[in-house]
Amino acid sequence: MNSSANILVVSYSQTGQLSRIIDSLLTPILENSAVSVKWVQIEPVKPYPFPWPISRFFDILPECVTLNPPEIHPISVSKNESFDLVILAYQVWFLSPSLPMTAFLKSREAASLMRGKPVITVIGCKDTWLMAQERVKEVLNHIGAILIDNIAVVDRSPLFFRMITTQRWLWTGKKESFWKIFPHAGISDKEIYNARRFGTAIANAIKIGRIDGKTSLLKGLGAVSVDKKDIYIEKFAYPKFIFWATLISRISKPEQLKRSLLLVVFFLTLFLLILKGILTDIILFPFHKFFPTKKLETEIDYFEQPSGSSIERIVD
Ligand SMILES: Cc1cc2nc3c(=O)[nH]c(=O)nc-3n(C[C@H](O)[C@H](O)[C@H](O)COP(=O)(O)O)c2cc1C
Repeated sequence: MNSSANILVVSYSQTGQLSRIIDSLLTPILENSAVSVKWVQIEPVKPYPFPWPISRFFDILPECVTLNPPEIHPISVSKNESFDLVILAYQVWFLSPSLPMTAFLKSREAASLMRGKPVITVIGCKDTWLMAQERVKEVLNHIGAILIDNIAVVDRSPLFFRMITTQRWLWTGKKESFWKIFPHAGISDKEIYNARRFGTAIANAIKIGRIDGKTSLLKGLGAVSVDKKDIYIEKFAYPKFIFWATLISRISKPEQLKRSLLLVVFFLTLFLLILKGILTDIILFPFHKFFPTKKLETEIDYFEQPSGSSIERIVD
């Protein structure tokens, strides 16, 4: 059996990093002539700057976190087109889907294109995607779309290095390694190349007519990997982001001085809370094994759904 399929890819990428991941994933799919792929890029009416001036970078936090969408141009898909599978590729901005993706998700077009359809989300970010994916899942549920898989491609350099190299990249545009110890910023070429394995699995599933909107296509391919630490960090930070973002967006407007001052207060409080958390952890470290980590362990399974982190289908 060699079934055909119509795939829609919707994405936004500022530096092209996410586009490279999609390119890699689509390569094996495009080798099958029975598959037609339509790839549309979301275009904000007012483009975001790159590199980001530091003040503008933080200024958008309240809108990101409260999912307050910017205006975007309508995507070029006609009403009569119908798709068997939608691939939704987004990056994370402040623990939330990036604003262009939020705008698409909240558009009428998104609802009409994805209602009742199988959807695969592809995330390309530094490292923190759990809460953003929760927001995306809520919208997909609301629309009536069926999330069959989630792929998260992240920067795998050590935490300290990726925190510095990512900010340097976003604020100056400089991506290359520096001072001999800091690696190249962003997701490695190897991770990006390896995204092909997902395309191969999707292409094979299409060949045997397995895209039924019920089954994951990517189990066993290490599509995501969640660590207890990731859950701990995001669950610690996210409620503070929500509280402050809601407050700041209620009492200030983008690019106002008042907003900048409130953001400074927010980050100061966050910094002090992190410091308190680190100190508490150091003091309580000897008693560490008595703390209930079991709950976090069961949560890993939840966040890794629907594709899981197992790797038995990966071939070298
Ligand atoms: C305003 C802003 C906030 C970001 N916040 C996060 C974040 O909270 N977590 C994360 O893992 N990456 C974060 N990133 C990194 C992006 O997810 C992404 O990896 C990077 O912007 C490159 O994506 P692109 O060039 O494909 O658009 C942020 C980037 C920007 C511009």
